[in-house]
Amino acid sequence: MKTPMKYQPNNRFAAILFCTFAFVASYIAAKNAPSANAHTNTLTTHATNAASVGIAEAHMIAYNPLAAVALADDKAALMAKGEKVYKGYCQTCHQANGQGLASVYPPVAASDYIKKNGIKDVALGVLWGRSGKMTVNGKEYNGVMAPIPSNYTDEDVAGVVTYVMNSFGNPGGIITTAEITKLRKAGKPKK
Ligand code: HEC
Repeated sequence: MKTPMKYQPNNRFAAILFCTFAFVASYIAAKNAPSANAHTNTLTTHATNAASVGIAEAHMIAYNPLAAVALADDKAALMAKGEKVYKGYCQTCHQANGQGLASVYPPVAASDYIKKNGIKDVALGVLWGRSGKMTVNGKEYNGVMAPIPSNYTDEDVAGVVTYVMNSFGNPGGIITTAEITKLRKAGKPKK
């Protein structure tokens, strides 16, 4: 009876020693490669999650009402570009306020011709030119308008058509660069 009692503290000491050793050993093990890998994996997971969140956010922007803001920005960009093209090219004939010139160049301001024929007709006229008799705001014209020079891009054409449609009292609307590219590819329509 006395002997086990005597060894008990030693056993307890041994147990504590073993536990301490085990703890230290596991601590050392924890600081080694598997732990480091786990850490790296965690980082990778975080990065992946961040990327997914980024994609999810992009989708949210694409499908939420903020898209209307993006569209407005597109229109603003087309208008800015279009104003430059109008002033640098169309204005020579149709004049600064779109009022046209005498009986030679019809007005593009508050034009009943534009209102009646629409944005696509304006685009086709710019792309392929115009000729023959036409009546604009009660006045007859019979002139020739050349196609827009080829150094003007499809974006320039989309811009100037959008600009004319939204200026000078015309009814508004937007035509995109992609739509102009399509019209150009389809070729000059036969009348
Ligand atoms: C060199 C002169 C000239 C230039 C530059 C010119 N046009 Fe014209 N435009 C005319 C003439 C002339 C007509 C009438 C054609 C006819 O009688 O068949 C016309 C007709 C039009 C019409 C249809 C009638 C109307 O007034 O509503 C539109 C729209 C038009 N032009 C827009 C443009 C735009 C936009 C540009 C610039 C990208 C442009 N034009 C550049 C001479 C020009």
